[in-house]
Amino acid sequence: MFRTSARKESEVIAVVGGQWGDEGKGKIVDYLSADADVVIRSQGGDNAGHTVSNDLGKFALHLVPAGIFNPKTVNIIGAGVALNPKTLLKEIAELEARGVSAQNLRISPKAHLAFDYHLFLDRAQEDGRGEKKIGTTKRGIGPTYMDKAERIGLQARMLRNPDKCLQELRSVLSKKAKIFSGSAIPDEFKAEYYEGLIREAAEKFGKIIVDTEPIVHEHLGRGAKFVIEGAHGALLDLDHGTYPKVTASNSTVGGLLVGAGMPPLRLTRVVGVFKAYQTRVGEGGMPTELKNEQGDLIRERGHEYGTTTGRPRRVGFFDSVAAQYAHEINGFTDIAITKLDTLSGAGNIKICSGYKCKGQAVERFQTDDEFLIQCEPVYGGEFDGWNENISSAKNFDDLPESARQYCNAIMKAFTGAEMRFLGIGEKRSDLIECEQ
Ligand code: GDP
Ligand code: IMO
Ligand code: MG
Repeated sequence: MFRTSARKESEVIAVVGGQWGDEGKGKIVDYLSADADVVIRSQGGDNAGHTVSNDLGKFALHLVPAGIFNPKTVNIIGAGVALNPKTLLKEIAELEARGVSAQNLRISPKAHLAFDYHLFLDRAQEDGRGEKKIGTTKRGIGPTYMDKAERIGLQARMLRNPDKCLQELRSVLSKKAKIFSGSAIPDEFKAEYYEGLIREAAEKFGKIIVDTEPIVHEHLGRGAKFVIEGAHGALLDLDHGTYPKVTASNSTVGGLLVGAGMPPLRLTRVVGVFKAYQTRVGEGGMPTELKNEQGDLIRERGHEYGTTTGRPRRVGFFDSVAAQYAHEINGFTDIAITKLDTLSGAGNIKICSGYKCKGQAVERFQTDDEFLIQCEPVYGGEFDGWNENISSAKNFDDLPESARQYCNAIMKAFTGAEMRFLGIGEKRSDLIECEQ
């Protein structure tokens, strides 16, 4: 028999994007952070763009965890993150200029540093892919994780000693620069190029690069509330996503735990964040994509332009097959459906319940991108839509009948999970917390 312990249990909530990113994770993390003790960004890098709109204003975060607005919360950039020091310096400066203190930010010494040479390589790799391009954010994320896997990457801990860091960088770059044999070596492949950055980052971050395990352990010991902030979306996960049109980290719940250094059995809830429709930036299959006026209308109403790159997001109807798959690999306990307000006045809406490929029915989600792009949606539900402005609704019951029916139909993809949050506007307060 297992014995139950008397200690106060911590609440550990993982917030996971359920689609292809930009589901509104930043907003949900900001909301949950109101009483969180620790918020951890655990994977990905500044390819993520998390928008938060609260009493302090509207912010686009790329590396800083969305718990930064609560002065009582410890915010950790975890071991699994690809950390571009230039971006972080800029992000912190912007936050501080707007009165948001980064005093409670901590950086894992194990996070891997992303430099301009990674961005250079990302651009070159994309150019070389031709028609097979991924449509990356060109933030150097793939090349940073490649260096990590090759065991030549620089970890954030190296910033504690800038001279040694530059020396190590010189050694890595001298090997990398061999690809330019016979031609001029770009500045990004010379260690001198980074001297100012490394000294500035060392100065600014030196004291906040601290072992994060004791912080996590100590807070777990006293029953604290944690939020682990996922980046990207489940369908962009390196292993479980629509390979090869994916990102270079694990954006599903397992990846979040590894990147945060959170003992898996301490996890208490997994919140899956889903837009009431869906979007995708970059290349790759999306069977429900709307290449028509309705898609354009939803894009404009929902301001569906990338937070990181400004690219127009591809818009499509909610894909229940993909959502069910995301649920299988993440085990959501709670669901947040965001941007329900964007669908007000958007006409009839549909939910995809299967695919057809070359006349054959396809029931399960397909992660082989070459197959997925050939799948056509089969719509199992069509809804009248609603025209009312729903942004002042306080409860689920305040929503128009068709909006309630639509949410209930979406929830059919998530057996065993509860509808927990409904996003009805951009601001922190534009959220219905559904009763359990
Ligand atoms: P993330 O990457 O998952 O954090 O999402 P992004 O911030 O990239 O994109 C989501 C966009 O939708 C942002 O502009 C948010 O401000 C906005 N947003 C989030 N939830 C809602 C909602 O319920 N309604 C509306 N209208 N906008 C929302
Ligand atoms: P958030 O956290 C949407 C997509 C890129 C591209 C693919 C690989 O804001 O939801 P990468 O630069 O990661 O090598 O690009 O992944 N992508 C995202 N799309 N939101 C994101 O993050 C994304 N992060 C990566 O568009 O298709
Ligand atoms: Mg985003």
